[in-house]
Amino acid sequence: MENNREQWSSKASFILAAAGSAVGLGNIWKFPYIAGENGGAAFLFIYLICIIVIGLPILNIEILLGRTTKKNPVGAFKAITNNPFWKYVGALGVLASFTILSFYSVVGGWSLAYTFEAFVGTFDSFTVKNWSPEYGMPNPESAARFFDIQTKNPFWILGYHTLFLSIVVFILLSGVRSGLEKASKFLMPILLFILLILVIQGLTLPDANKGVSFLFQPDWSKISGQTFLLALGHAFFTLSLGMGAMMTYGSYLSDKDDVVNASYLVAFLDTVIAIFAGVAIFTVVFSSGYDPTAGPGLVFHVLPPLLSNLVGGYYFAFLFFLLLSIAAITSGISILEVSVAFLVDERKISRKKAVLFMAGLVYLAAIPCALSFNVLSDYTFNFQDKALTFFDIADYLASNLLLPFGGFFLAIFAGYVWGIDEVIRNLLIGESNSIYFGNGVVKSKGFKPAFSFTVKYICPVLIFLVFLYSIGWI
Ligand code: TRP
Repeated sequence: MENNREQWSSKASFILAAAGSAVGLGNIWKFPYIAGENGGAAFLFIYLICIIVIGLPILNIEILLGRTTKKNPVGAFKAITNNPFWKYVGALGVLASFTILSFYSVVGGWSLAYTFEAFVGTFDSFTVKNWSPEYGMPNPESAARFFDIQTKNPFWILGYHTLFLSIVVFILLSGVRSGLEKASKFLMPILLFILLILVIQGLTLPDANKGVSFLFQPDWSKISGQTFLLALGHAFFTLSLGMGAMMTYGSYLSDKDDVVNASYLVAFLDTVIAIFAGVAIFTVVFSSGYDPTAGPGLVFHVLPPLLSNLVGGYYFAFLFFLLLSIAAITSGISILEVSVAFLVDERKISRKKAVLFMAGLVYLAAIPCALSFNVLSDYTFNFQDKALTFFDIADYLASNLLLPFGGFFLAIFAGYVWGIDEVIRNLLIGESNSIYFGNGVVKSKGFKPAFSFTVKYICPVLIFLVFLYSIGWI
């Protein structure tokens, strides 16, 4: 194993970086709108089950496989087995990293753009008092129109995508400790602080309880088979699982850092932050009497005017989009790091070259996604009665197919190829001196059989069933 591989300076740094990867657009942009469309609390419930039953074991395995082999996804499988099949599973992860970043970078760009627009006071013109006819009807209609006008402009959308990817590249060029770690250590506390301000602000609004009960009182009638697929896909997406991102971050851990406690903490932080983001957003939406089922535009159409209408709204709107941008950046770096680590380990090229080369490829891959909103908007593909653009396809393909697929194979690998006993033996290596959960979890008698049964049977079977359902076979 290479001795010159960089390592996190401490386990806490790893946890912050991994939480930075997990907490992203998935928590703040995606979770609220899919929860909004799928019965609020009912969706939350199914999603939590997916996190606990499938997400947590797979998160443990990914980090562990990284820590044990000290390799990128392709190299990690190769280090454990000679069967070439597994190398391709790793390669699927590298492919997924392109696919995800190609649409992630576009939305990351919107977040930066909206932070800027909030800063210069653009959203003020959506409030009723300052309504300007240029954007159509006042309030969310005008904000939706503003969004439309901007995204229809290929230069705007490509420009901000370029800016987002450049920030990601800049951080990655500095390496693991001075890049990934420093960025997460600096940005994550700011993120938490902003989120707390927005939650408190949301809870003090009139009718805040309507927003809160939407998140916590289930509407089971909204649940369909599709909901399970969405919840599972989202559990993978939000925990950054199924394509080797956590594996790559785990490969910068030292063997003395234990995996189980770190996984619990990362999953816990990710879930709490998603729920907080839900509270911050739905309290505002409900207190203004708006529809929570606005879809992907929820954050970009509905929030700018609603936030600006509040007292001190200028600041809240700016803080919200800054929060979104920070979350997107600390996740974006983890997505690209997978393919960078792959090139550095397997092709032995310098980190700098690897970053620039991979970012160049992602840059090109993102162009069809960016142009899906303007030049290429008529190029759609019909799938399950919906016309999907390149952007929609990248999102759907990654979250609902590639990631669960990756998770499925990872469970099979851990259960049957690496061997569950070997996995558990490795899991027990490391100082379990965490102040958070203690080491009781690992030592308790129930842990081994429960972990082993979940990894060998429950994860693969459940993922497979959801998968068959999604392609319409059951
Ligand atoms: N988890 C991030 C979010 O919720 C997105 C993300 C970062 C991701 N790294 C990943 C998703 C790796 C899948 C795989 O926004």
